[in-house]
Amino acid sequence: MIIAQISDTHIALDTPDADQRLRDFDVTIADINALDPGPDVIVHTGDIVHNGRPDEYAAAAAILAKARAPVYVLAGNKDNRANLRAAFAAKGYLAPDSDFVDYAVEDWPVRLIAVDTLSSGSNKGDFCRERAKRLIDMIDADTAKPIAVFAHHPPFEVTVGPDRINFETVEAMERLAHALQHSKRVVAVFSGHVHRGTTGHVGRIPATVMPSIATTLRKGEYPPAMKMCPVYHIHRFDPVWGFATEARIVGTGPSAASTRAEVLQSA
Ligand SMILES: [Fe+2]
Repeated sequence: MIIAQISDTHIALDTPDADQRLRDFDVTIADINALDPGPDVIVHTGDIVHNGRPDEYAAAAAILAKARAPVYVLAGNKDNRANLRAAFAAKGYLAPDSDFVDYAVEDWPVRLIAVDTLSSGSNKGDFCRERAKRLIDMIDADTAKPIAVFAHHPPFEVTVGPDRINFETVEAMERLAHALQHSKRVVAVFSGHVHRGTTGHVGRIPATVMPSIATTLRKGEYPPAMKMCPVYHIHRFDPVWGFATEARIVGTGPSAASTRAEVLQSA
């Protein structure tokens, strides 16, 4: 199974870099569409838009509509749950019984579980008891398959960058970390939010954080030639080895041909 992860597109229509953010998002979807083999799904781990406005979601949804693979979205701290739902509810995967943007995708050898870490009070994450119960219920709904969990805020101490704790309280982060370790079946955690690529662990579960697709908001040092090239992640799942993550730089070549050529050469 192949998952393309994108994150932190921060679509805004009235900032000086508004066009660049739209372009970054658009070229990323085009690059993913050109992959061969292409991903089975695309997961957007939140901060889809910057101000939570319906017109921003309309612009984001128009770009995501070009994706060849099915798209699943999460809520980030800049998202607005109600407006996100209005933009994406027709896809049918958002749980109808709650305002929280959390759900499980059951169609693949790996279950995909999206959690909602949005706080109404700050840009940092939150994870209340109700969300923990909902996550544990989702985990327990199937006791056979491995699970990949997607959460906007990284549920571990991020030791690169200025802010190690990305939740409002350590208790909230630990509540999520504890729920993730409730079973032995969560094999990977994928996040965004900090706008830079890094890795960590939730207990013994490997965790990966991807940079922002919005190049003007990306953290970390990039050479001038890469400053306007979005970076996204491809997560490939192998039943024996688990997940392997590849960072892909948009615009670095004919991804379809290079991927297929590598396969043929190694055969
Ligand atoms: Fe963000």
